[in-house]
Amino acid sequence: MMNILITGGAGFIGSHVVRRFVNNYPQYRIFNLDALTYAGNLENLRDIEKASNYNFIKGDIVDAERINELFKKHEFEGVIHLAAESHVDRSITDPLAFVRTNIIGTVNLLNAARDSWKGNKKGKRFYHISTDEVYGSLGSEGLFTETTPYDPNSPYSASKASSDHFVRAYGETYGLPYVLTNCSNNYGPNHFPEKLIPLFINNIIENKSLPVYGDGKYTRDWLFVEDHARAIDLVFHKGENHETYNIGGFNEWQNIDLVKLLCRLMDKKLGRPQGTSEQLITYVKDRPGHDLRYAIDADKINKELGWEPSVTFEKGLERTIDWYLENQEWLNNVTSGDYQEYYEKMYS
Ligand SMILES: NC(=O)c1ccc[n+]([C@@H]2O[C@H](COP(=O)([O-])OP(=O)(O)OC[C@H]3O[C@@H](n4cnc5c(N)ncnc54)[C@H](O)[C@@H]3O)[C@@H](O)[C@H]2O)c1
Repeated sequence: MMNILITGGAGFIGSHVVRRFVNNYPQYRIFNLDALTYAGNLENLRDIEKASNYNFIKGDIVDAERINELFKKHEFEGVIHLAAESHVDRSITDPLAFVRTNIIGTVNLLNAARDSWKGNKKGKRFYHISTDEVYGSLGSEGLFTETTPYDPNSPYSASKASSDHFVRAYGETYGLPYVLTNCSNNYGPNHFPEKLIPLFINNIIENKSLPVYGDGKYTRDWLFVEDHARAIDLVFHKGENHETYNIGGFNEWQNIDLVKLLCRLMDKKLGRPQGTSEQLITYVKDRPGHDLRYAIDADKINKELGWEPSVTFEKGLERTIDWYLENQEWLNNVTSGDYQEYYEKMYS
């Protein structure tokens, strides 16, 4: 049996990756290490928590001693690193939290992997999950490729860019076998409702306003989370060491158009007259350092590994909406307490 460490597996993307690996690879023992911050939720993994090849460990990647102990005890052969502070708005109010988890936490994991694999690197792999936001902002034309220079603008993207550089530096300096992917915006079930799509689904259900930043013209590429998890599976097993792959949905939307589409779908689902939810749209003051447009060229992963998105945006959005409507209790649980305080601070 091979021991695989997945960090951040109780979060949005992590929970989909953990589920996929636990279900598809009975020959692996999966260790999900997560600090269970506001964004981590074991409810996300209820269906697999009793699987014989699954283990949950509550722990903080900033705690180097703990990380080293875990590597000694379990002799991980693969690491899939998703643990992170992930919300841009939070990074503007508390950049140091992002430095701690995203940079120091990543370096702690790199040190532990380097030390534990130094005698024998064969079959070992450190997979770092990153974002397209490291590339900065695009004008109305062009796409991010794997060779686009880094130009991060928010504390979040600066911390992710830094962690990417550390991963590559450990590859160069210590010969650490790594792969790295930069992905565009994900959406789907289990997404914490501070991010645009789940936030707006929740607000529409509750008849609350839909706060759109600036003029709503910001453009993002969207990918269904299960397509991302499938790409992660493929890169972990088939990607070349020391290579980077961009992952995207070939699915660009201006925020305002996306919000209007969501409003139409929600009116249909909730049996409200068309146009009801659109009335909730309100434009709010822009966030500082807001990037105009992100768009991914996912040609490399397509040509070299045969990956492409499989879920259309309309289908994916519908599956997402259905999940939130069927999981109101999950939504109520995560929107109580700390989140309420954060919401009041950001949008009141
Ligand atoms: N969501 C996206 O659209 C997107 C797109 C591209 C890349 N990414 C990257 O994918 C990864 C996962 O993103 P997500 O959206 O699932 O994030 P998320 O915020 O939903 O989940 C992050 C998880 O990490 C855990 N965590 C946070 N700090 C930790 C620490 N110090 N130690 C251990 N665990 C900790 C949290 O408890 C949570 O379970 C991140 O690295 C993010 O940068 C996200």
